[in-house]
Amino acid sequence: MNVLTRFIEAMPKAELHLHIEGTLEPEMMIALAERNGIQLPYADVEAVRRAFAFGSLQDFLDVYYAGMSVLVTSRDFFDLAFAYLTRMHAQNVQHVEIFFDPQGHTARGVSFDTVLSGLVDALERGKRDYGMTSKLIMCILRHLPEEDAFATLKAACRCRDHIFAIGLDSSEMGHPPSKFSRVYREAREQGFVAVAHAGEEGPPSYVCEALDDLQVKRIDHGNRAFEDADLVQRMVRDQVPMTICPLSNKRLQVCPDLTHHPLKRMLRAGLLVTVNSDDPSYFGGYITDNFLEIAGALELDRNDIIQLGRNAFVSSFLNDQEKQTSLDAFDQFVERFSWK
Ligand code: ADE
Ligand code: ZN
Repeated sequence: MNVLTRFIEAMPKAELHLHIEGTLEPEMMIALAERNGIQLPYADVEAVRRAFAFGSLQDFLDVYYAGMSVLVTSRDFFDLAFAYLTRMHAQNVQHVEIFFDPQGHTARGVSFDTVLSGLVDALERGKRDYGMTSKLIMCILRHLPEEDAFATLKAACRCRDHIFAIGLDSSEMGHPPSKFSRVYREAREQGFVAVAHAGEEGPPSYVCEALDDLQVKRIDHGNRAFEDADLVQRMVRDQVPMTICPLSNKRLQVCPDLTHHPLKRMLRAGLLVTVNSDDPSYFGGYITDNFLEIAGALELDRNDIIQLGRNAFVSSFLNDQEKQTSLDAFDQFVERFSWK
């Protein structure tokens, strides 16, 4: 095995852009459909896999929302999340910040509390069994009206202790961040940290809106910010973290060919970029696969990987002391790693 591959596999990692519903593997989708008596438009695992051919974000979202219909009970959410944490433990992930989409469930009659209790139980077990730390980020579905977002925020306020941040996802074009300025203002007043998907398919102006109107602490994706030199300068100056998802970008045609992916140029420009998996079941790989594929495609060297690995802890929502402890452990790992 190549030494850089060995390093990437063994490196302590943090994942900051991961939709828990996007970890639903075809096998689990079929098993949960059976367990819950849900009719899927797919006959078997192979048919599910065949549906995973996407031309755009919207193509993917149609399959993603259909897939999540099999998640019904707290146990389903527990099983889904704990399977992800178990995989991450095997990939030396120490810390995860996980998105969930309550509106994708409440719209089907699954209660907010059912979703949250399953996820929280899994995260607590992950901490107990694996020592893995975590935060939950509740996403607002941006294709739905502001009023639905407010109702979802109200539910989150009842569970303030378990939800760290608010995020924004789903169909980007035509649904700019400013659509949710008032929701985010209320969320920030309630003590939630703000993040948002922006610049995945949408223009650089959406990234500016996320920063200015929503006052986000991190941009999810943000690829298209790279088209605007003034915005890049601002994000470098302010060291705004960006959660980049290479395999997602490839599968959703945000960047058809990873050899042309902007990650390396972003890193060289001084942007605070991180590597993440987004929806690993749908996009063909978890965090380690994302590191390995982008490292190969862009010929990243060991210093690039070390920078990307450190950036994830720097960009996380761990508190200052936890961050320092994680970074010290990371640096110690690098120092002791045998490059021979
Ligand atoms: N929901 C799940 N994954 C997403 C992505 N990559 N972009 C927008 N919404 C999403
Ligand atoms: Zn995402």
